Amino acid sequence: KNILVLNGPNLNLLGLREPSVYGHTTLAQIDARLAALAKESGVELSTYQSNHEGELVDRIQAARTDGTDFIVINAGAYTHTSVAIRDALAAIKISFVEVHLSNVYKREEFRHHSYLSDLAVGVVAGLGPEGYEAALRFAVLHQTAA
Ligand code: DQA
Repeated sequence: KNILVLNGPNLNLLGLREPSVYGHTTLAQIDARLAALAKESGVELSTYQSNHEGELVDRIQAARTDGTDFIVINAGAYTHTSVAIRDALAAIKISFVEVHLSNVYKREEFRHHSYLSDLAVGVVAGLGPEGYEAALRFAVLHQTAA
């Protein structure tokens, strides 16, 4: 089983970026925890981060043919703006969980709408780095439906 974890814009700055909102854990530390969990669980893990919308679209499209079974995605701000990322996820028909470190519902109004949530199997928000681990555990147990 192959699981892809995608991170969007500014998530490369985790640890430095607004630590009161996003905490002190870096993306490298999150990825290391996910890699350990994947190994324990006997699944293959790929991780990818980009600040560029089109690169994220390209990586999502590549998942269609590279054996990816499940996606965990934190699209960052593109969550709230990107019809293109929504369309890419809809096109490839691979189940995904949407993750946000912060509880977007107790933040600004513009973060309350997601272009991805109604396509997602589920959404994790507000659990910090543990949200990725919860999503990965879920991904290990659940296959993409047809
Ligand atoms: C985020 C929430 C988004 O609103 C924001 O633009 C981010 C990070 C989160 O993980 O809490 O970049 O996706």
